[in-house]
Amino acid sequence: MRRILVTGGAGFIGSHICVNLLKKNYEIIVIDSLINSSLNALNRVSRIVNLKDDINKKISFINCDIRDYEALNQIFLNSSEKDKPIEGVIHLAGLKSVEDSLNSPIEYWDCNVNGTINLINVMNNNNCKSIVFSSSATIYDLSERNKIHENSFKKPKNPYGSTKFVIECFLNDLFKSNLNEWRIINLRYFNPIGAHPSGLIGESPIGKPNNIFPSITQVASRKRKTLNIFGNDWPTKDGTCIRDFIHVMDLADGHISAIEYLRKNKPLIKDFNLGTGLGTSVLELVNTFQKVNNIEIPYIFLPRRKGDISKVIADNSLAIKELKWNPKRNLEDMCRDGWNWQNQNPYGFANK
Ligand SMILES: NC(=O)c1ccc[n+]([C@@H]2O[C@H](COP(=O)([O-])OP(=O)(O)OC[C@H]3O[C@@H](n4cnc5c(N)ncnc54)[C@H](O)[C@@H]3O)[C@@H](O)[C@H]2O)c1
Repeated sequence: MRRILVTGGAGFIGSHICVNLLKKNYEIIVIDSLINSSLNALNRVSRIVNLKDDINKKISFINCDIRDYEALNQIFLNSSEKDKPIEGVIHLAGLKSVEDSLNSPIEYWDCNVNGTINLINVMNNNNCKSIVFSSSATIYDLSERNKIHENSFKKPKNPYGSTKFVIECFLNDLFKSNLNEWRIINLRYFNPIGAHPSGLIGESPIGKPNNIFPSITQVASRKRKTLNIFGNDWPTKDGTCIRDFIHVMDLADGHISAIEYLRKNKPLIKDFNLGTGLGTSVLELVNTFQKVNNIEIPYIFLPRRKGDISKVIADNSLAIKELKWNPKRNLEDMCRDGWNWQNQNPYGFANK
């Protein structure tokens, strides 16, 4: 059985990846500081894959910050001593709010950038040289009108995006330092939404969510009265912004494909967009949510938000071709599964 370290594995995307890794019979070590997540997510992961007594053998959790060299190093040393060296890392740990990053750039650069340098340092010293990194569409110049290709121009507009961009630059430098050593994939996510169809895991934001899908589910569960839609005068078919929403389980599948791609190939560095390649307007998302779940979502239009962009859609053809990955779930699946999670867990993982 192959052993993978998942940083940030208790979080929204990480917990869904853990489900898929366990189903593929990987053994996993999750490290997470729990700054934006709960250990309950991993208990639920075990329930989904029906681990029972086997649990401690297949998934272990260590509460640790990726900036802690000694703690990380010990994890790698312990693994090697048990003759089960860590084969690769899926690196999700980091802070992810665009808005918070504008107010706290030091915290964002320290956690995301210093944290990644520390992780790579430990990996290097322990001869573990395969990594899949959670990057983001925010690194691109999003004012571009066409679908965004991996080679499209990069121009992050906020500290969060800058941290993702410089981490990619750092990983490129690392790769170039010895072309026969590292296997690196940067996965650039578009807009992950939805949840595992069991309703046992999903997005459980701590504090007020500032992205659209958790805001819709909060209105659906009557925690908020109305949904704010920023702008109905964008140059799009119905005047609202267009995004590329992708089901979090499709995103999780992409990570399994990436890890397997790294195992099969020689040292390399590659970037892949993970999106559906389809544009959905905010109003289409709201209407689909209402129809699929039979719930009314009262909304109001507010002026455009500063810095918003009318349309962001991935060109996902490279990931489809090279990773042999294909997003399978549609917008209805995203709306149904996302609501199923929120409806069963109105307070996320809190008080459970
Ligand atoms: N959700 C999105 O829309 C989106 C889009 C693009 C990229 N990403 C990236 O994907 C990754 C996962 O995102 P998510 O939505 O699951 O977020 P999340 O906040 O749910 O997960 C991140 C996890 O990392 C942990 N963490 C944060 N700082 C840490 C540190 N210093 N040490 C150890 N653990 C730490 C958090 O506790 C959390 O469990 C992040 O790197 C994020 O930037 C997310």
